[in-house]
Amino acid sequence: MIILGIETSCDETAASVVHDADQPNDRILSNVVLSQENYHRPFGGIVPEIAARAHLQNIDRIIEQAMAESGIEFDQLDGVAATAGPGLIGGVIVGVMSAKAIASVHGLPFFAVNHLAGHALTARLTSDLEFPYLLLLVSGGHCQLLVVDGADRYQRLGTTVDDALGEAFDKSAKLLGLGYPGGPAVEERALEGDPSRFDLPRPMAGRANCNFSFSGLKSAVRRKVELFGGDGPAPQDVADLCAGFQAAAGEVIQDRCRQALKIYRKMYDLQPRLVVAGGVAANRALRRCLADLALQEGISLQAPPIGLCTDNAAMIAWAGLERFRLNGEGDSLDFAPRPRWPLDPDAPPAIGAGVKA
Ligand code: KG4
Ligand code: ZN
Repeated sequence: MIILGIETSCDETAASVVHDADQPNDRILSNVVLSQENYHRPFGGIVPEIAARAHLQNIDRIIEQAMAESGIEFDQLDGVAATAGPGLIGGVIVGVMSAKAIASVHGLPFFAVNHLAGHALTARLTSDLEFPYLLLLVSGGHCQLLVVDGADRYQRLGTTVDDALGEAFDKSAKLLGLGYPGGPAVEERALEGDPSRFDLPRPMAGRANCNFSFSGLKSAVRRKVELFGGDGPAPQDVADLCAGFQAAAGEVIQDRCRQALKIYRKMYDLQPRLVVAGGVAANRALRRCLADLALQEGISLQAPPIGLCTDNAAMIAWAGLERFRLNGEGDSLDFAPRPRWPLDPDAPPAIGAGVKA
C-alpha cells in the first residue's frame, strides 16, 4: 500500500510518500518539508493570509519533489491523503484541493486526515507500537492527553484551559526578545541557564483532573521581564528565565501525565504505554522529563524522532494509510475542510477551552 500525503495546515508546506513496509525504517519513501519561517519571521508570528499564499505558491513543486524522491509514479499510488483540519483554513484548502485533484485525475481514493491524528499515529509509523496507548499531544495549537484505542478512536482525558504549551513557549520567547519560532530558541538558551534562579509557578500541578493551563506561566515570565525595566534582561537573565520556564513546563507535564496514568490504569489491565507527539515533543529537556517519569512509573515511553515531531506530511500519509486499512474507499470529494476538528468529539469542554478544538 503506497500513499501520498500532503500537509499545509500551518506554516509548513509538505508532501511525502509512505508505504506499509514491515520494517518501520523502510516506510518513508520521501519526506519533503518547506518551512515558511522566513515569510513570517518579520511579523514575529504566523500571518494566516501570507501562509495560505505561500502554500499555493509552493505546493505543486513540493508534491513533484516528493514524488520524484520516492521513485514512485502517480499510477503506482493507492491513495492520496491531505490534512483537512484543524488548522489555518486558507492553507488547509490549498492542500485539500491539491489532493482532491490528484485523486480524481488518477482515480484514487482521497483521505481527509485530521492533523492531530497525524501526530497521534506517528509513533506507529516509526515503530510497531500497538493500540491502546496514552498520548501526550503537545504542539503550537494543542495540549491534550488522550487514550488512543484505534486509528479513529480517541478519548480525551484532559486539555488546556487556555494556552497550548507550544503557544506558551512562543509567547515567552517573544517576551524575551527571542523572536519566532520561539520553542527551539527557548530550548537553546535554556542550555546556558540556571533553572532555579527564578521562582515560576507550576499551574495545575496536583489537580485531580488531567487539564493544563500555561497562560499563568507565560504571564509570570512577563512580570519577571518587566522587573528588569528599561534595558530589559541581559543575556544571562534570558537564559535563566528560559531554563526556569522549561523546568516549570517539564514538572507540570510530568504531574499531568502521572494523573492521566492513574485513569488509564483503571481503564486497562495492561502495562501502560506512554507516547508523546507534536512540535513541542522535539524539546530534549521535556523528553528527558518524560523519560524520568516513565522510569519512575515502570512504563514504556515512545517519542518519535525529533524531525517527525514538528509538522510534516509523512505523518499525514501514514494516517491516510491507517484509514485505508479501516476502509479503503476513502472520503467523498465533497469533504469540506474544517478549521476545528476535535479528535474526541464527545469530550466535555474544559472551562474556557471550548475553542481549542
Ligand atoms: O506540531 P507543530 O509543528 O505545529 C502545530 O501543529 O502546532 O508544533 C509547533 C510548535 C510551536 O509552538 C513551536 O515553538 C514548538 O512546537 N516547538 C518547540 C520545539 N520545536 C518546536 N517547543 C519547544 N522546544 C522545541 N525544541
Ligand atoms: Zn502539528
